[in-house]
Amino acid sequence: MPAPPSTDVSRMRQAHKVLARFDFEPVRLERGYANRCLRIDLTKGSFEIRPVTQQMKDLWVGGKGFDLWLMFQEISKTTRWDSPENPICMSSGPLGGTLSFPGSGKTLVTAVSPLTHSIMDCNVGGYFGPYLKFAGFDALVLTGKAKADVIVFIDAVERRVTIEEAPLESVDSHLAAEEFTEMYAADELDKKNVAVVSAGRAAEHSRIGLLNFSFYDWRRKVARLKQAGRGGIGTVFRNKKLKALVLRSRPISHGWRVSESKAAMRIPKSDHCGPCEEATKTLVRDVVKRWNKDPEYVIEMLQDIQERQRHISQAAVDALALETGVSRGQLYHIATFYKAFSLTPRGEKTVQVCVGTACHVKGAARILEAFERELGVKQGETTKDGKFTLEAVACLGCCSLAPVVKVGETVHGNVKAQDAARILKKEAAS
Ligand code: FES
Repeated sequence: MPAPPSTDVSRMRQAHKVLARFDFEPVRLERGYANRCLRIDLTKGSFEIRPVTQQMKDLWVGGKGFDLWLMFQEISKTTRWDSPENPICMSSGPLGGTLSFPGSGKTLVTAVSPLTHSIMDCNVGGYFGPYLKFAGFDALVLTGKAKADVIVFIDAVERRVTIEEAPLESVDSHLAAEEFTEMYAADELDKKNVAVVSAGRAAEHSRIGLLNFSFYDWRRKVARLKQAGRGGIGTVFRNKKLKALVLRSRPISHGWRVSESKAAMRIPKSDHCGPCEEATKTLVRDVVKRWNKDPEYVIEMLQDIQERQRHISQAAVDALALETGVSRGQLYHIATFYKAFSLTPRGEKTVQVCVGTACHVKGAARILEAFERELGVKQGETTKDGKFTLEAVACLGCCSLAPVVKVGETVHGNVKAQDAARILKKEAAS
């Protein structure tokens, strides 16, 4: 028997007023595509399904590509961040929602940014992107501006989209996520099928508002939040008078998995000597115990192993698979997807030269060359003495200090190419 929603949430729901409604037919996914997008105009209160053409798939693939393509259909030279026609586009790629590739749960979000006045994209975790695809849409375009605060509710169970007044729910994301999750889930188990996107009150008063994407953590019994933080798209969201975008997904079964991976071939065999293999097994057992042998925490376990061994060795993957029951294929996918992991031993310190947009325009390429020269290695390589690994990375999150280089935990701002030797000398000594 499903637990009834609390009286507060029932009262909130009763206060909803549906302003516009749209019913849609389900579609089957074909090779990762639903082959259609959903466009919602908040000014007119109208809905439209647009086709995803083969040309769109060939040229733009999905995710950020689809978002950019859709943006270009909506904006003109004069579109500002607060223009009604500035769309917020959200999309996941054709692999969205598959379980074999880490990152395939991401949603890519774009809009004209209130910070840069150009199109800005960001990606975010949570389940929204895959749920949107399972609802039958490869992408969502939110355009126009409502007169007063509204929510958009995409109900994949009833196959319906509504724009609703929802006067009693909180604007603040941590509360709104809890309220809408409880409101639309049939029971405790169903809560994981509800995804809430919101921006919070601060987004109304600043240009750096971010979007919070919720997902229900059944272990902690809370709706947790992931952030689409770049570019102030939360500010655009609140400017459109959106209080929340809520998606209720149908319960889904596990998708396909890849049980083994070619990535395994990239693992060096060197640590398969008797004693070091034993040491690795002991280390892995230690780490697994720390995380209560719970396979849900394999990423955290891999982080621990990376920290202690400075790489993920084949012996470590074998031992971790044995201890947790997670397939080696999946572990390799994780270890090869996240930049934080390395299959070969890393240096004591990692030199990260930012080549993101802000640093790029301020000469990041020359700085990277200078570090390559000083260290005698190319990006992605480790010095022979094992002291430094050199990496070129996208945005380190402190663009105002551009160009930026991070060595270990220390951020160096306003770096010039001629600073490379001095920085390395100082870091080697510390
Ligand atoms: S682009 Fe380099 S720190 Fe953001």
